[in-house]
Amino acid sequence: MISSPAIRPDALRLSVAPMMDWTDTHCRVFHRLLAPHARLYTEMVHANAVIHGDRARLLAMDPVEHPVALQLGGSEPALLAQAARIGAERGFDEINLNCGCPSDRVQAGRFGACLMREPTLVADSVAAMIESVAALEAPVPVTVKCRLGVDDDHRYEVFREFVDQVAAAGCRMFVVHARNAWLKGLSPKENREVPPLRYEWAYALKRERPDLSVIVNGGIATEHEATAHLAHADGAMLGRAAYHDPYLLHRLDAAWFGDPLRPRGELLRTLRPYVESQLAGSAQQRPVPLKHITRHLLGLFHGERGGRAFRQVLSEGAHRPGADWSLVEAALAATERTEQAAA
Ligand SMILES: Cc1cc2nc3c(=O)[nH]c(=O)nc-3n(C[C@H](O)[C@H](O)[C@H](O)COP(=O)(O)O)c2cc1C
Repeated sequence: MISSPAIRPDALRLSVAPMMDWTDTHCRVFHRLLAPHARLYTEMVHANAVIHGDRARLLAMDPVEHPVALQLGGSEPALLAQAARIGAERGFDEINLNCGCPSDRVQAGRFGACLMREPTLVADSVAAMIESVAALEAPVPVTVKCRLGVDDDHRYEVFREFVDQVAAAGCRMFVVHARNAWLKGLSPKENREVPPLRYEWAYALKRERPDLSVIVNGGIATEHEATAHLAHADGAMLGRAAYHDPYLLHRLDAAWFGDPLRPRGELLRTLRPYVESQLAGSAQQRPVPLKHITRHLLGLFHGERGGRAFRQVLSEGAHRPGADWSLVEAALAATERTEQAAA
């Protein structure tokens, strides 16, 4: 058995969850500017798509994103191994296997959360992925994101046995979305809300398997909650809260890594060179419309007086032909005006 390389503990503390349609490369570049120490994850990409699809689009990644993990979906060890290698060769810092997604499409393909029922297959997949990246000059870690169980199976021992089998195949890091996945009767959205959270299981796993890295995910909404998890696990992964309130990422990163807090507008302006280069395009890449980037910025002033004005200016203007950085400046100006008027 080849063991996957370990990840430095400080690089595990804060991460942003993989989110389909949300955590594309533009979103990740924005999150990186807010949270220089966070670990970022791509949307899930199926192994087949990595092998046969449009890689330039599916695996688009900007160098500022590092450290960034590619999340793969699939359940065929040989294909996953091939896709993992392609991802590692393209520069992803970690390859993560999705064992937590409950959508019908995923169930039909027998991957995602269904894999919680097939620890041997996951172990075989992980072993094949580790072996295929081990041949590279700089092998990257292969990790797993999972749930606590599926449907009404609420046995901690079954969850721990899943982890033990996959760990025996060489996986050393588990992201635990700390609730079950219900494969019948709940939509993916409901599956992120209805099954109750049980962080204690992730904590127990860390206590009983201290050599493994355990990252807690699910329902973490505040700085206080995120910080509390660090007493029991190696890190906290935020999904929806990070997307809807990205300044939370900045506050966590600054607090946990000892950096000064920077104002929202100042942070946003550091994105300007990236936005302008994307709008201009290049020999390799067609120009990107502004709205593809600004849709990820809308939550920056979440909970602030000027938040509505910010969102409004950006969402109304970004789809207009020729929309450019000046729209972002206009949104910032509208936000400031609202805040001053209220002061
Ligand atoms: C829009 C959306 C898309 C998601 N896509 C993925 C995905 O591609 N892979 C995955 O492992 N989890 C996916 N998830 C689940 C998240 O990674 C995370 O586990 C879940 O949202 C719970 O964390 P949170 O409460 O901090 O959002 C998605 C969640 C959302 C909201």
